[in-house]
Amino acid sequence: MVMVGGCASVLAGARARLSLLRRGVLPSSAAARVRVLGRTQPRFLATTQERGGDRVALVTGGSQGIGRATVDKFLEEGWHVVNVDTDNTVFSELKDKASRNNRRIVNIHADVADDGVASDAVSRTVNEFGQLDCLVNNAGILPVDTVRPAHEYSLENWHRILHVNLHSAFYFSRAALRVMVDQHEKTGNPGGVIVNIGSVHGLQTAHGVSAYAASKGAILSLTRQLALDYGKYGIRVLAVNPGTILTPSVRRILAAYDETEEDAGANYPLQQRAGKPSEVASVVHFLATDGASFMTGSHVEVDGGITIVGSWE
Ligand SMILES: NC(=O)c1ccc[n+]([C@@H]2O[C@H](COP(=O)([O-])OP(=O)(O)OC[C@H]3O[C@@H](n4cnc5c(N)ncnc54)[C@H](O)[C@@H]3O)[C@@H](O)[C@H]2O)c1
Repeated sequence: MVMVGGCASVLAGARARLSLLRRGVLPSSAAARVRVLGRTQPRFLATTQERGGDRVALVTGGSQGIGRATVDKFLEEGWHVVNVDTDNTVFSELKDKASRNNRRIVNIHADVADDGVASDAVSRTVNEFGQLDCLVNNAGILPVDTVRPAHEYSLENWHRILHVNLHSAFYFSRAALRVMVDQHEKTGNPGGVIVNIGSVHGLQTAHGVSAYAASKGAILSLTRQLALDYGKYGIRVLAVNPGTILTPSVRRILAAYDETEEDAGANYPLQQRAGKPSEVASVVHFLATDGASFMTGSHVEVDGGITIVGSWE
């Protein structure tokens, strides 16, 4: 009897710890202790709302620019992060940043346009952290030497831009949704959030960027489609459309056109300035949190008001 009572109290304690864990009160190491007791527990132990400091974001193109600011923001807000980027020069810097914040980061050196990378990255995320709460499809390119009218456009550039900006978002979303649906089915709780980085080019455009504009328009359609199909799993899918943000790629474009940062922001209603990567990252982070729990399928312009003017040329 004592034995049975002892087991019962151990199990009751485990249930209590699980409940605390679900409310984000206990850290994930407590999850491991709960599992050791051998009870059948869901593989994904808590909801987006309840995971607290143990939430996990996968960011594509997180080494520079908007992606980097997003990685920084998530780490600062207590998330673990997986970064997939072709640029590995800052991986050790990112590791240091994560450990300063008492968080972990997994850096994956890979091209998001390669269709095998997404499922590998999502598997590594789940193996490392046991869950995936937010996918940020950020990696995108607008090589300055591709800007030209459509009849002069090379098919190589067309395919490359579509692969990096659009297809990768589908590859990563597809892999992430498998995990997020599973998370929902095992707990009954919201499965996760996908934030796609679009552009104001998805709504209006400039001369000579047919592939980029097409990719960003399609990102908004994909966002709506996934939001519609996966809402029943509590999975939210959103897009953020930045205006001109001062990142390495934009600085390259400015240099090519012999323009300054001031020129880049001159037509912007808000303070006649271009934006900072951190000003996009803070919105991405917000959308990933429960503050945005009734938002899905929509896009948020982080554009200093340029869309209301109608053109930035
Ligand atoms: N900066 C802007 O003004 C602006 C405006 C609207 C939309 N956006 C969008 O924001 C996103 C980020 O842009 P940014 O300005 O920060 O770019 P950036 O070039 O400054 O940084 C992009 C990051 O993605 C990585 N990357 C690029 N191609 C990759 C690939 N194939 N595989 C893996 N990693 C890859 C780069 O190495 C880099 O770390 C893009 O989707 C872009 O279209 C940017």
